[in-house]
Amino acid sequence: MDVLSLSLGSTGLLTAVFVFLSVIYYIFSKKTQENNAPPSCKGWIPWLGCAFDFGVAPLGFIDKKRRELGPVFTLHVAGERLTFLTEAEDFHHFFQSSNVDFQRAVQDPVQNIASVSEESFMQYHTKIHDMMKGRLASSRLSDVTPHLIQQFKGKIQSIFGDEGEGDLHDLVRKTMYAGVINNLFGDNTLPVDDPKEFEKICQHFIVFDEQFEYGARLPPMFIRDWSTAKQYLLSKFRGVVPKLQNEKTQGNQTVLQSLVSITDKPHAPNYALMLLWAALANAVPITFWALSMILSNKRVLEKLQKQVDDTLGNTPEEKWEFNEEFFKKMPYLKSCVMEAIRLHSVGVITRRVMTSFTVREYVIPKGDMLMVSPFWSHRNPKYFPEPDTFNPDRWNTSDLEKNLYLEGFIVFGGGRYQCPGRWYALMELQMFIALFLFKYKVNALSDHVPSPSLKHVVGTQQPSKPFLISYKTKL
Ligand code: HEM
Repeated sequence: MDVLSLSLGSTGLLTAVFVFLSVIYYIFSKKTQENNAPPSCKGWIPWLGCAFDFGVAPLGFIDKKRRELGPVFTLHVAGERLTFLTEAEDFHHFFQSSNVDFQRAVQDPVQNIASVSEESFMQYHTKIHDMMKGRLASSRLSDVTPHLIQQFKGKIQSIFGDEGEGDLHDLVRKTMYAGVINNLFGDNTLPVDDPKEFEKICQHFIVFDEQFEYGARLPPMFIRDWSTAKQYLLSKFRGVVPKLQNEKTQGNQTVLQSLVSITDKPHAPNYALMLLWAALANAVPITFWALSMILSNKRVLEKLQKQVDDTLGNTPEEKWEFNEEFFKKMPYLKSCVMEAIRLHSVGVITRRVMTSFTVREYVIPKGDMLMVSPFWSHRNPKYFPEPDTFNPDRWNTSDLEKNLYLEGFIVFGGGRYQCPGRWYALMELQMFIALFLFKYKVNALSDHVPSPSLKHVVGTQQPSKPFLISYKTKL
């Protein structure tokens, strides 16, 4: 037997084994489905399941399968069973039930993304969450807003200048990254005031953010650029965190100082990296989406511009407080922000099923990853008529002053581990948009708001194309 026939023979054998395993897998999985399991998509390839289809454009795939399989369904993806709940009336199983667990769902990805060990995560996660929730509670935002106003004003001037043209996403990203990092981490703790160093931070953070999903799942050797970006950002934190650990702070601590003071020393830079991502990855693109939709809608822009000009123009600058009372003078601003958040929410949030339970007629087995998609939930016409339309007025029926939102609105998750940065996020979005529209006369040069790239599922979507604007200082 020559080498060629040997290799052909072994290829044939492998193919036969593969087909045999696929058939067994298919028959076996059909059987389990009969057991009151939700309808599912298993694909034909053992273990991988529908990983390829899911991986290419996960958000689109989730919607396709919901239409095919109904409101509760399971996707088999690379050894995991992802069970989706898509109707708001089932969400209490996700947010309130003791059958599911937040920490067990995110521990593994956090380990891959930020190299935080399981032991450290289980010991410190709740402590960190509670610290963040306390530091960024709506009642304590006044600790950080005066500094953030100064930051945004300064960075808007230095990055946008008096007039110019450019891609709105790029400009907003740089301005907000710089302001928020200085605000939460301390002035120039990361070198954001040095243009060259700041450019490097932006470049690495953008790669880290864009390939975040891969970082959560794939070994570093398959994602070289992402690993380089992660190591760069970690090295920056490793440079500054030990100094903070030794510093005795007087007066107000920054959020980073609070974080460092409650975590284990070896992992403090790693938690700082996670905080950096959480603080920037959603709020900054959503600010872009809000502004691009406002600028593309003449009626919305005129109404909002008037409220902003009246409020900021008739209040001395030192009294621009950007607190709940101040925002009440611009109710349309909050409606615009809520509507942008609704349309550009995070793709999915997750919980691990710890004890099997029943939803509708289906049994969800222990070990499944339970999934809810804020992005698709916010496009459910039952709760949001004409869901794809940017219509800030739909928020007139909610009581935004009391923060009572519309049913089915779950942008910040829910339950014990709901987003602790939500008050800060709402405040910074409104502050940035108000300061920007007050300072500049802005024109959209692009005809349309770009479509969102449907690749991201963990965070919010990035625009698929640039959105060009021109702007000129009014005063
Ligand atoms: C519009 C902007 C934002 C959106 C849409 C958003 C959304 C979310 C969501 C959906 C979760 C998961 C909650 C769950 O599974 O129930 C989360 C977690 C988190 N968010 Fe936000 N977020 C935003 C802004 C921020 C900001 C500005 C910060 C910090 C300053 C922040 C800090 C965090 C942290 C630390 C967690 C993890 C909580 C934990 O592990 O216990 N977020 N966020």
